[in-house]
Amino acid sequence: PIPTPAWRPLVHFTPRQHWINDPNGLVKVGEVYHLFYQHNPQGSDHANMSWGHASSRDLLRWQEHDVALPGREAHAIFSGSAVVDTHNTSGLGRSGDASPPVVALYTGAGHSWQAQYLAYSRDAGETWHFGPDQPVLDEGRADFRDPKVFWHGPSGRWVKVVVYPDERQIALYGSPDLHVWTPLSVFGPAGETGGIWEVPDLFPLTDEAGQEHWVMKVDVFAGGPQGGTGAQYFVGDFDGTVFTPHTPARWADYGKDFYAAITWSGTPGRRLWTAWQSSWDYATRLPTHPWRGALTLARELGLRRGPDGEPWLTQKPLRELDSLRDRQVSLHLTPEAPAVLPLMPERALDLCLTLTPGTHLSLRLTSEAGDELSVEADLGSGTLTLKRPACGLLADVAGFGGTHAAPLPPVENGALDLRILLDTSSVELFTGGGLLALSDLYFPEAMPQRLHLSATEGEVTGVGWTLRAVAPGET
Ligand code: FRU
Repeated sequence: PIPTPAWRPLVHFTPRQHWINDPNGLVKVGEVYHLFYQHNPQGSDHANMSWGHASSRDLLRWQEHDVALPGREAHAIFSGSAVVDTHNTSGLGRSGDASPPVVALYTGAGHSWQAQYLAYSRDAGETWHFGPDQPVLDEGRADFRDPKVFWHGPSGRWVKVVVYPDERQIALYGSPDLHVWTPLSVFGPAGETGGIWEVPDLFPLTDEAGQEHWVMKVDVFAGGPQGGTGAQYFVGDFDGTVFTPHTPARWADYGKDFYAAITWSGTPGRRLWTAWQSSWDYATRLPTHPWRGALTLARELGLRRGPDGEPWLTQKPLRELDSLRDRQVSLHLTPEAPAVLPLMPERALDLCLTLTPGTHLSLRLTSEAGDELSVEADLGSGTLTLKRPACGLLADVAGFGGTHAAPLPPVENGALDLRILLDTSSVELFTGGGLLALSDLYFPEAMPQRLHLSATEGEVTGVGWTLRAVAPGET
């Protein structure tokens, strides 16, 4: 394969080389964010699955480390999560350790069996040890994976969600010590069940009135909002044993490239999640080299009453991103006054726009090779549409090219906000105070050089920022 440095994202995480998929074990220990991820340390395919490892102090500038959990002879290391065991409930900490133990739960995946295993770190997440060879939770199943664990204060125990993919169910367990797990309840099938379920998460969020709700997120392998893989969530209650949904399933993202999100543990007062920025539809065909796979930016999660009066998840890019803001241009678009922004090498773009009611905003990202990606925000019809061509090396990759549409949130307080993040090979859109997110990869034949903006109806004001690269492409 030919190296493709130009497509190396500037503000998104990619491994130096080789394959990655799901983010794993996302945990903040002290001041350091530890990111693990499904990784093949030897090649660019989904094989030799291990937990790769990187760390950061701002969720933007990552330092890659040695593989934390290398795939084993008996089984691959599939997805999972990690927590700081502050009170040493696991007994894995020793007096004199500089930090309480950090404990990871992951899936050991054999040829026709999957079970949950434990690993731990005694040095604040830097180096890792496998626990005892036997699983901590084994039900003799062929498919049983992706444990996500959290501390549940009111019941004074650890709670873990694990998916039964074929059954489209999520099993909940409780534990005093992270070793011994007792079944609590089972959620599902519910919502979208056309494809198998993967990577569940369950977490609380407080709405604008100060009321706590619980969000259950689970990914679907087929039947996503644009076909293929996708992430759905339910808002409801969790009483320490049973999750009860109070809303129908909704999509966490309307693009094709948001999968396997899990929330960070160890971030009190703040709820963040990070996803794999790809789709199983074509992940193994992405033409980047020497790496294959990227993660989304971390997103701040919130919850508020949506247009239907029900609680909805809101998402916005992590606030740390603002620290990369560099140069600024003001934008004022009317039908008479379109604009063109040149794209600068080694700079991503962050547009913060406000649309008046009835506006039709059209964006076109173009290159010298004739590539064109377009975004239409049409407040008249209430739709957001992204058109992504499959060009060059992706021309024959099924499911890549296409039109991705989503219902726009309604105008509130006389305007609609739209945030657009353009990295070298991705577009992320957030609108309606974060009620709607849409993210897509993009691999044009030549690097885009211009962004054409026009309001064919209505009026758009805002600011376009360039963002300094934190992971400059190698030359
Ligand atoms: C989701 C997933 C998980 C599994 C991992 C394997 O993308 O299929 O269910 O644990 O990837 O790499």
